[in-house]
Amino acid sequence: MCESNLEPFRQQADRLRSIISHSYPWISSSASGPERRAPVNFTSSSLQASTGAQAPAFSSRDFRDALGMFATGVTIVTARTADGQLIGLTANSFNSVSLNPPLVLWSLASKAASLLALSQATHYAINVLTSQQQALAEQFARRDIDRWAGVDYQLGRSGAPLLSGVAATFECFNRSRHAEGDHVIFVGEVEHCTHHAETSPLVYHGGRFYTERLLSISTVDDDKVEQTR
Ligand SMILES: Cc1cc2nc3c(=O)[nH]c(=O)nc-3n(C[C@H](O)[C@H](O)[C@H](O)COP(=O)(O)O)c2cc1C
Repeated sequence: MCESNLEPFRQQADRLRSIISHSYPWISSSASGPERRAPVNFTSSSLQASTGAQAPAFSSRDFRDALGMFATGVTIVTARTADGQLIGLTANSFNSVSLNPPLVLWSLASKAASLLALSQATHYAINVLTSQQQALAEQFARRDIDRWAGVDYQLGRSGAPLLSGVAATFECFNRSRHAEGDHVIFVGEVEHCTHHAETSPLVYHGGRFYTERLLSISTVDDDKVEQTR
């Protein structure tokens, strides 16, 4: 593409950069931590991705229904603000990113009430729920209640609350945040993790909760799967 054809995209990127840095000054697209905030910097690949796609030929309902066919686990992301306020919300967008360094991601709606607190926190914890904890998943998705009422937890090494009885815990440094569409992708660098192999994880798809059922002993080599991810 010749230089002059890029000008409209550059102007659009400048406009987006200005809107985002104005509305969400705590969000950066760099890999720096929250205490080293950098201005939003769009890379050329994200610029192409945001301008090159055709308009969707499906409804929002179709998109949600298709996404709902992808079964996930369920987590509660927790943090503690500098003034001691407890933050927590249910999220199933959690996934692994990198083994070395150990990175995970999850995404948060831009309109979420906890966006500011979670963007500013140096650390957060990702608590993977068991099939016994559906009620907790529902509690931490509600807006009209004290989500922490009756919840058993202890503060982790980074200060983020670790919920009791969960299947696994990832204590993360809040490494980077990336605004994309109507969500912000959080990439966390895992400093500590624990798991309880005897528990059964809570499963979610199509708006419903499930528990796992073993089909057969897998012949897939776990290490090879990780390499090809
Ligand atoms: C199973 C389940 C998974 C969810 N996953 C996410 C998610 O990944 N990201 C997100 O922003 N909201 C997710 N939500 C919705 C939030 O939990 C809900 O909007 C919550 O009220 C947000 O809290 P806040 O507004 O206090 O930040 C999920 C809800 C449920 C029930």
